[in-house]
Amino acid sequence: MIKVNFIRTNNEKVQVEVPENWTLMEAAKKAEIKEIPADCGGSCSCATCHIYVGNAWVDKLPIKQNSLEQSLLEYEPGYKEGISRLSCQIQLTKELDNLTVSLRDNELL
Ligand code: FES
Repeated sequence: MIKVNFIRTNNEKVQVEVPENWTLMEAAKKAEIKEIPADCGGSCSCATCHIYVGNAWVDKLPIKQNSLEQSLLEYEPGYKEGISRLSCQIQLTKELDNLTVSLRDNELL
């Protein structure tokens, strides 16, 4: 099992545990994270699963942004170069146990 921590803008932490190889978006859905509606169900076409990866984790992610993900994110309100990612594109491997990501401000949703 892989632990993931979601940090809300008010610093509330929501921790969830999911099986290895789930996506970060699937972990968010299990934890009922309202800031991640994930409207397209993970097909990399809605960008409503936008999160910010903690600085300590950016280089540990096994998959870097592809051009489709990058192009979706660049038009998203609150886009932050280097740490913005689509959570449906991040697969949770054991190296990512205890991954911590920040959620966007509700006003951007
Ligand atoms: Fe739609 Fe990630 S769930 S882009």
